[in-house]
Amino acid sequence: MALRLRDHSGLQRGEQLLLSVILVLVAAVKPPEVLSQRYEPVRSPHLGAQGAERWCEIRGGMLATALDAESQTELEAVIRGTGDSDWWFGLVIIKAEDDTSNGVAVWLDGTNASYANWAPGEPAAHAEACAQISAQDGAFLWVSTDCSRELPFICQFDDQNTLACQGTNATLTCLQGHVLRIESGKFGRSSPYLCLSEEVSTWHSTAFPSEDVCSFVNVTDLVNGLCQGVQTCQAASDSTLFGEPCPTIGSYLQIDYSCLEALHLSFADVVVRGENISVYIEWLLSNADSNVSCSVSMGDGHLVSPYLLSQTGVLSHSYTRPGVYTVHIECAAGEWHSMLDRDIAVQQPVSGFTSVKCFLPSNTEPEPDCVLPYGQNVTLEVHLSGGMWTVVLLWCGKQWKCGYNFVLFLYKSSIKQYFI
Ligand SMILES: *[C@@H]1O[C@H](CO)[C@@H](O)[C@H](O)[C@H]1NC(C)=O
Ligand SMILES: *[C@@H]1O[C@H](CO)[C@@H](O)[C@H](O)[C@H]1NC(C)=O
Ligand SMILES: *[C@@H]1O[C@H](CO)[C@@H](O)[C@H](O)[C@H]1NC(C)=O
Ligand SMILES: *[C@@H]1O[C@H](CO)[C@@H](O)[C@H](O)[C@H]1NC(C)=O
Ligand SMILES: *[C@@H]1O[C@H](CO)[C@@H](O)[C@H](O)[C@H]1NC(C)=O
Ligand SMILES: *[C@@H]1O[C@H](CO)[C@@H](O)[C@H](O)[C@H]1NC(C)=O
Repeated sequence: MALRLRDHSGLQRGEQLLLSVILVLVAAVKPPEVLSQRYEPVRSPHLGAQGAERWCEIRGGMLATALDAESQTELEAVIRGTGDSDWWFGLVIIKAEDDTSNGVAVWLDGTNASYANWAPGEPAAHAEACAQISAQDGAFLWVSTDCSRELPFICQFDDQNTLACQGTNATLTCLQGHVLRIESGKFGRSSPYLCLSEEVSTWHSTAFPSEDVCSFVNVTDLVNGLCQGVQTCQAASDSTLFGEPCPTIGSYLQIDYSCLEALHLSFADVVVRGENISVYIEWLLSNADSNVSCSVSMGDGHLVSPYLLSQTGVLSHSYTRPGVYTVHIECAAGEWHSMLDRDIAVQQPVSGFTSVKCFLPSNTEPEPDCVLPYGQNVTLEVHLSGGMWTVVLLWCGKQWKCGYNFVLFLYKSSIKQYFI
């Protein structure tokens, strides 16, 4: 069917009218997952300082430290507006031996607190043994307090460092498509405050055993064997595996690690049913001595396995039904194993025009056969057949007034063009 325009001379003119159809994604595609925040306020339960530390440790963290003004600001941000004013964080005050001068503040991991934000007069001589952050009048000052007070508290979790007390597991986690690289693992003790069970001793009755009694064993190789190259892993903090370098008060396992991006997957977020789409796969780690072996599931039952790639690869596929599918890929090369999921939204294509009607501004009745005088504005009523997952927006370019063939382009798709 042709849309004919007639100019004043009565001749038909042949200029193109362009209509673009833009398909808009309706389906919500999952946002990328995010690892935990560095500081986590815990408002319930209220616990004594050592109980609060234990709570954080069980989850692989410790009570929060504020090593500099920037960290202090971040800490303030997580507790501001919560309604609670007093919070435990990870500072203890060691009484001076003569009991008259001010105590010395140390972080629970044993480092000296060089940055401080004490309230005036704090920490007092004969200071109570623990310290809280006290929110008052917009200030978040440090105040010494009896350790047994029950308060909300702030834990600190470090994405690149994990602590596991004896008898628990260290859990190491990277984002999807990333793999663990172990920097170091040590089992033993350098701080008298971490992983101390309250039944054994309290922070302030702890006489830290001398260094020849308490030390660290290097367990990097062991942790490597367990965790290197996978996305997540658990390593048991267990003296029967590692030996006991601190027999009097027990040891803990501390692992430093990083996450390397291993796998990258890309394709159009929105595709049309029946369209031949390309899935680009990239392996980002160098592995000179082995090929990468993958398995790719397209989410609609189509599986390509094994799929071998050197560094990059392209798979093509076409979906037969509209919907949201999860593309899942797993690759392995040597010690590295990585997997990645990504959603793809498949839309129903626009299958064509039906009933094109043309209206002159002065008329409510459509013009027969869309025969229109040249130079007139015209209203077009176009019905497009789509289906689930299809939203159509019409946008008309400058050629609007002078066109006479419609060409319909599907955005993001080169295979469908309609002429009427
Ligand atoms: C920590 O502070 C104490 C007292 O000020 C000092 O004796 C000690 O040497 C410091 N330790 C470190 C590692 O800076
Ligand atoms: C620690 O991890 C091992 C597997 O690595 C598991 O069998 C065990 O149940 C875990 N223990 C705890 C306390 O989660
Ligand atoms: C621990 O062992 C690993 C592997 O044997 C070694 O590379 C690393 O230097 C050791 N770390 C320390 C602190 O000795
Ligand atoms: C899809 O695209 C790939 C790569 O461009 C090509 O090899 C394949 O023949 C195409 N399949 C169809 C059905 O068009
Ligand atoms: C990698 O794959 C190529 C081609 O399939 C093969 O010739 C080569 O031997 C493989 N290399 C290894 C280390 O498996
Ligand atoms: C067509 O419509 C435009 C915008 O509404 C208007 O400016 C123009 O004058 C119209 N032309 C005619 C011939 O009515």
